[in-house]
Amino acid sequence: MDKQIKRIGVLTSGGDAPGMNAAVRAAVRTAVAYGIQCIGIRRGWQGLINSDFVQLDATSVSHIISRGGTMLYTARSEDFMTEKGRARAVSTCKMLGLDGIVAIGGDGTFRGALELSRLGVPVVGIPATIDNDVGCTNYTIGFDTACNTAIDCIDKLRDTMQSHERCSVVEVMGRNAGFLALYVGIAVGATAVLVPERDLDFQRDVIDRIRDARLAGSTHFMIVVAEGVGSAVEIGKQIEQAIGIQPRVTVLGHIQRGGAPNARDRETATRMGYFAVRSFVEGRGNCIIGTRGGDMVETPIEEALALKKHLQMERYQVLETVSITTPYVHTEGSGL
Ligand code: F6P
Repeated sequence: MDKQIKRIGVLTSGGDAPGMNAAVRAAVRTAVAYGIQCIGIRRGWQGLINSDFVQLDATSVSHIISRGGTMLYTARSEDFMTEKGRARAVSTCKMLGLDGIVAIGGDGTFRGALELSRLGVPVVGIPATIDNDVGCTNYTIGFDTACNTAIDCIDKLRDTMQSHERCSVVEVMGRNAGFLALYVGIAVGATAVLVPERDLDFQRDVIDRIRDARLAGSTHFMIVVAEGVGSAVEIGKQIEQAIGIQPRVTVLGHIQRGGAPNARDRETATRMGYFAVRSFVEGRGNCIIGTRGGDMVETPIEEALALKKHLQMERYQVLETVSITTPYVHTEGSGL
């Protein structure tokens, strides 16, 4: 990019994530610090099509670092998948005199970013999704807060499951990835965790785990299911059919996307917002910001989209080894 950047757009797109606001704030404030004007595009790519925008300055993003959700609203845009929609988005960029866009979201957002960059509008992406499933970065904004929200809910569930000596089946989000489920499962000491990255053997992964926990003295069981595996309700029914206990099923759902971002998400979002604008200032752009080790890195958008992020299965082994630890103690209880 040779052109000097004078004005950029900032948008959030796809599922919201705690810390998106902190990223918006950092991008806007960094832009202002470098003498670049900022336009907030509301409702993601759809907003760019519809010329749905708001002028932003350093004070318009005051007091949002601690707020969940996104002040710019978000949407999933079908129109942006069409050539016509993208052509209208490019017209909006021309009309507003935008030299580039900072797009905050997940893989879907970055597929949009690639299309727009091919039409001559430079884009820098900031990964923000509770799924943590973006290949070019170790970490996506929102993941840690979502893990903590899910952990908080499951800890509460455990209290009542323990009192009633029940089995709980909890469904967590994650789309097609098991990051949220596995991290949360380890952190709550789940009896079993089911993730889409591992072929499900129901007897081995669920029934044998419940039996082992029971033989080790447990009279309550916590099964964490990633939504990508299927419905927790179905898993609950299968458990009942197999061993006769009646699990209680909880789908945590969108509660996992809300709440104030925690320290990690505020700090990461702020650094990513800063580095995104620096990428424009230094004449690069058309990349996704990411973390590798403790550092911020940039990956060209096309390359970033081709990268697949793998769930470290060694974590699974950790869970299996540590979650059921007590030696065999016979107790009266659920009668397994
Ligand atoms: O990508 C974030 C996410 O929360 C996924 O975990 C989930 O599958 C999806 O979005 C839910 O999307 P929606 O808000 O459109 O129901």
